[in-house]
Amino acid sequence: MASAPSGPPALSLSDQLLMLAGGAWVSQMIHVAAELGLADQLAAGERGCEELAAACGADADSLFRLLRGLASLGIFQETAPRRFALTPLAELLRSDHPQSLRMVARMLGDEHYLSWADLLHSVRSGESAFQHRYGMGLFEWYQQQPQRSAIFDGAMGDHSRAESAALLAAYDFSGLRHLVDVGGGRGLLLQTVLAAYPNLRGTVFDQPQVVAGAAVPPELEGRLAFQGGDFFAEAPAGADAYLLKHIIHDWGDDACRTILERIRAAMAPGARLLVVEQVIPPGNGPFPGKLLDLNMLVMTEGGRERTPQEYAQLLARAGLQLQRIVPTPGPVSVVEAVAASG
Ligand SMILES: C[S@@+](CC[C@H](N)C(=O)[O-])C[C@H]1O[C@@H](n2cnc3c(N)ncnc32)[C@H](O)[C@@H]1O
Repeated sequence: MASAPSGPPALSLSDQLLMLAGGAWVSQMIHVAAELGLADQLAAGERGCEELAAACGADADSLFRLLRGLASLGIFQETAPRRFALTPLAELLRSDHPQSLRMVARMLGDEHYLSWADLLHSVRSGESAFQHRYGMGLFEWYQQQPQRSAIFDGAMGDHSRAESAALLAAYDFSGLRHLVDVGGGRGLLLQTVLAAYPNLRGTVFDQPQVVAGAAVPPELEGRLAFQGGDFFAEAPAGADAYLLKHIIHDWGDDACRTILERIRAAMAPGARLLVVEQVIPPGNGPFPGKLLDLNMLVMTEGGRERTPQEYAQLLARAGLQLQRIVPTPGPVSVVEAVAASG
């Protein structure tokens, strides 16, 4: 006799589509859990909804309904009536988890969420939904919104922790003397690389207000520097490697050409350029970069994820030559280039 199938029954096609179509609900549910700091509140163990609501400033019954909904998706679990505990997915919303995504969840539910409500505008017009809604570019807006900008920087840090590990596992930085992280935020990636390569020194180049909030940890004193500036105007000169993680995907081809030309002009002879992005593979298969690409359509003016051929063309226009694309254990790859000869 055949054994009974285990696990929940497969969803019908219409239920699958309904789940996907209601994805915006889930996005907001996770965002609210992150904003309220629910996972931090449960770090020491399970708690009842009334106590939890008092601790994080929420209405107890509404909080119960939020947690019940999240528990149905495997994020938190109800251990006794109206008492909740963490699950492995909920752990990732803790601020102190080494793979925390709390700041990403906080970022995605606000200006990103509101801009995605105008996706139709972007698809009809080809224009940035963020620009349409807020009347200015994303980074210009962040300059005026220090609290939102801090959450964005924190979210980039969340991504960088996972990506730094993938990058170190896949790319050999030995032999390099000076690595510049162009648009390197507060330097999390460079700190990780410098810790693994004791003979390397590094410079983080980013907007003045971003690097102003950064500090050199004592163990990297003398090896790590921060420099404020505009990558459309300049790049720190004379280094033997320049890294751009999630910079090129923020901009259209003409803007990228300017950034890349400034770097090419700054590069020491024989220097390498390392573009770290989710390079789009051919075919219909699932790949996170195919959705991130739409986020770039919505949030930026001209930003996009690109295929290997598109990177080769972009680099060539700035006088650079694609050498190879190094995959990592995560979704990002390293697009390595050098100055084109002649
Ligand atoms: C998407 S974030 C990527 C940050 C970091 N590389 C990472 O992967 O986590 C883009 C970065 O570019 C910086 N940026 C934007 N415009 C800039 C400009 N004109 N000059 C220098 N940095 C800029 C932002 O401050 C931000 O840190």
